[in-house]
Amino acid sequence: MTLLKLATRVGRIQPSATLALTARAKALAAEGKDVIALTAGEPDFETPAAIRASAVESLNAKGAVDRYTPASGLPALRKAIAAKFKRDNGLEYTPEQVMANCGAKHSCFNLIGALVNEGDEVIIPAPYWVSYPEMVNFFGGKPVVVDTSSTGFVLTAEALKKALTPRTRLLIVNTPGNPTGAVWSREAQQALADVLKGTEVAVLSDEIYEKLVYDGEHVSFAALSQDAYQRTVTINGVAKAYAMTGWRIGYAAGPKHVIDAMGALQSHSTSNPTTLSQLATLKALAQDPAELPGWRQKFIARRDVLVKGLNEVPGVKCAKPGGAFYVFPDFRGWIGKRHRDLLLKDDSVICEALLTRALVAGVPGSEFGAPGFLRFSYAASDDEIRKAVERIAGFGRELT
Ligand SMILES: Cc1ncc(COP(=O)(O)O)c(C=O)c1O
Repeated sequence: MTLLKLATRVGRIQPSATLALTARAKALAAEGKDVIALTAGEPDFETPAAIRASAVESLNAKGAVDRYTPASGLPALRKAIAAKFKRDNGLEYTPEQVMANCGAKHSCFNLIGALVNEGDEVIIPAPYWVSYPEMVNFFGGKPVVVDTSSTGFVLTAEALKKALTPRTRLLIVNTPGNPTGAVWSREAQQALADVLKGTEVAVLSDEIYEKLVYDGEHVSFAALSQDAYQRTVTINGVAKAYAMTGWRIGYAAGPKHVIDAMGALQSHSTSNPTTLSQLATLKALAQDPAELPGWRQKFIARRDVLVKGLNEVPGVKCAKPGGAFYVFPDFRGWIGKRHRDLLLKDDSVICEALLTRALVAGVPGSEFGAPGFLRFSYAASDDEIRKAVERIAGFGRELT
């Protein structure tokens, strides 16, 4: 039999590099290597006990989790999501304007699927989360990548103006951001909202790291003005805020006709998100878990160790991120140097060498549209972070 032909649309996407590198680090660890994996995009804490206990209760309540729910989520959950947006973000949504998805990644996928036509341009500030351009490509849109590395990883009004064309359909905003951890201020976002006034450009505001802000404040794009509200779909989820990556619940809120379209798409793909996870999310959204402030303190301490340690390594520069759990150091000072027989010609080679020779796993910046940088996650123990810094510094000392 001849090889089965794939659809052209899958030829336009690559598997997730971060998941691949996490798997690679795990495989090396399984071989007995003492690898420190700073690749993960997930908190290293357990889902709070109260949320797990409530899930156990749901599981034991006869029939509570056995059936489908409406595709866009349980009515009680849609209400709870709307209440969360009002409480935390000052955003007024009716339950019909919100929906639950199978993770915030799925919310983004549904939204891009609902908005982007073949050839439509989507402005994606770089460094970007790996999935944005892939999703846009999948749906036949055209990612328009705008580098922000010389403006503190913040998209400026000027850069946005330059990137806008009559084909621009969507702007992606992600604050706090992955992979940089940058937190965009109210003023910075307002400047972007001002540029968009009078256009028909929609905004996808991915706020999945909202609860992990250490410096500055989290501002929802939709809360900037009535104009911003009308053009924005706000996306969030339980994964990062409540250490619930495995539960797979994200949610979206915006204009009702957009949410309806996303709901139609979802109804023909996944149907509803898992009923048990929806019920656990109800508990999670009722009030922030008691563990959250402690987690934040831990993340701040780890961030500070990592940033200070990396800045002491010759050739490495690391900005201090205001949120999320990533640092995004600039390794361009290492490019062109040698580690024994190996020429460090780009960030992928640096990353591979750090993994195999120093046993520290990160992700190359080029995967996020920022060659010369590396991403390290500090969702790892204090001990691992300290050791990782020592290993990177030791590797750096051997460069010629
Ligand atoms: C910016 C960003 N958005 C969305 C997601 C996906 O979140 P979820 O696990 O809820 O699908 C991630 C996960 O890495 C992320 O970094």
